[in-house]
Amino acid sequence: MAELKDLLQSADWKAEKHVPVIEAPAAVKKGEFLEFKVVVGKEIPHPNKTEHHIRWVAAYFHPDGSKFPYEIGRMEFNAHGEGVEGPDTSTVYTYPVASMSIKTEKPGTIHASSYCNVHGLWMSSKRIDVLK
Ligand code: FE2
Repeated sequence: MAELKDLLQSADWKAEKHVPVIEAPAAVKKGEFLEFKVVVGKEIPHPNKTEHHIRWVAAYFHPDGSKFPYEIGRMEFNAHGEGVEGPDTSTVYTYPVASMSIKTEKPGTIHASSYCNVHGLWMSSKRIDVLK
């Protein structure tokens, strides 16, 4: 039996359209907010259809030396073309990107996860340094 951690897939985002890309500066000044985005399909667009789409992304911050990560936020994407006339008829589609912002006094790692309704769970990470 696979554990959940074994089902989280990762890859190079430039070659794999499911990877949640963390767009963030490499460092933030102490006391200032770090703004970042989590986007799926940055290099290779992911399908965005009723039958195949990205449902959500989430982000966590793991400060150096901390036992556990902290969840920063999550965003659901709920419009995938479904309409009263059937799949892919509404012409309304959400694009899988989320903007978030955190403040931290400790450097650490942003972890992001995403979920495709066909291809499962994906993850990525980005190191963040804190400048004094
Ligand atoms: Fe997919």
